[in-house]
Amino acid sequence: MKRKLKNILVTGGAGFIGSNFIHYIFDKTDFSGKIVNVDKLTYAGNLENLVEIDDKYGRERYFFEKADICDFGEIKKIFKKYDIDTVVNFAAESHVDRSIFGPKDFVQSNIMGTFTLLEVARENWKGRKDILFHHISTDEVYGSIEEGDYFYENTAYKPNSPYSASKASSDHLVRAYHKTYSLPATISNCSNNYGPYQFPEKLIPLMILNILEEKNLPVYGDGRNVRDWLYVEDHCSAVWEILNKSEAGETYNVGGENEWENIKLVNFLCEKIAKVKGKNEDYYKRLISFVKDRPGHDRRYAINCHKIKRELKWKQQYNFEDGLDLTIKWYMNHQDWVDRVTSGKYRQWMKKNYKMR
Ligand code: NAD
Ligand code: DAU
Repeated sequence: MKRKLKNILVTGGAGFIGSNFIHYIFDKTDFSGKIVNVDKLTYAGNLENLVEIDDKYGRERYFFEKADICDFGEIKKIFKKYDIDTVVNFAAESHVDRSIFGPKDFVQSNIMGTFTLLEVARENWKGRKDILFHHISTDEVYGSIEEGDYFYENTAYKPNSPYSASKASSDHLVRAYHKTYSLPATISNCSNNYGPYQFPEKLIPLMILNILEEKNLPVYGDGRNVRDWLYVEDHCSAVWEILNKSEAGETYNVGGENEWENIKLVNFLCEKIAKVKGKNEDYYKRLISFVKDRPGHDRRYAINCHKIKRELKWKQQYNFEDGLDLTIKWYMNHQDWVDRVTSGKYRQWMKKNYKMR
């Protein structure tokens, strides 16, 4: 099926994956319609990520609306104003550690926010077939998995953190709106993304920046937890294929087929940055310290993404080395961005919560 997309509402478009997705659409596809970015601009949302897009397409094909996805009235106005036919719901609280310190915002934005978007879509799109609600989710909803096993689209949900539980709830709501109200909806469950514009609280950017600043490299527990890593642009292309070619009601796993133990990955980053800086790798590896584990820390995630490869002909374009080189280079060249996003609210939050470790 080839869908005709016209006016796409991207929620959370000022965050890491959402802003990469908007860049991807304008820079790498032949889409000729409008993109409306709705974002509440939490600590994780930065309009600076989209200045080039705004300069080039602002008020003609790209529009920004500051709004909370939990605000039914505002979202309804935006739907009508732009005649929205497609929703891509990236907006969420996304950091597992924060969900442990304070789950309330996760329940609110991730569950109530998705519910509100679904309600507005249901009310506005009555009887229409030329529409799609795509919900961005995570592999964390499946819980932790044993060595040798993989998450499939029909693997039972078993979330272990407040973050993954809130994402699981929102996935169930999307599925229910499709089954109960015939709302054309799809879901994708993706593994760990990395790349430009990722907020430096997440493992890869945090480690890159700490290595560059010669700060402590905190590895949780024994460091043997396994994650599957995907370059963010590959996630964006997967979502684009789903928007264009999927059948409503389908779920797709998306992943890098690229599993790494955290400690091996941190060592690898030390080696890579040592090469760039002309230093001995042990100089950086000495910064590694094993710290108190994350409560409920999932041991291993591993995605089987054969379905999207087979049915939608998607595949990853970036190998891990190239993706990491691009990411390291990006953070080295964007110190101003890093300084701005980590000042203010983020520093206060870190001070309050991270002394607990
Ligand atoms: P992020 O934290 O970088 O960005 C989230 C964005 O959502 C921010 O711009 C924030 O301001 C906005 N937002 C939060 N609450 C909002 C609300 N109530 N109303 C409007 N805007 C709101 O997150 P990310 O890493 O870009 O993740 C985007 C989506 O992808 C999330 O749904 C996340 O669960 C999912 N996901 C992330 C990864 C990953 O590795 N980062 C992997 C799989 C799935
Ligand atoms: O799997 C997809 C998920 O990936 C997304 O749904 C989440 O939004 C995203 O944040 C990410 O969750 P993780 O918890 O896997 O990512 P994080 O970068 O926080 O941690 C990756 C691994 O590294 C995890 O095992 C915890 C560990 N870690 C993390 C940090 C920040 C450390 O050892 N030290 C650290 O300082």
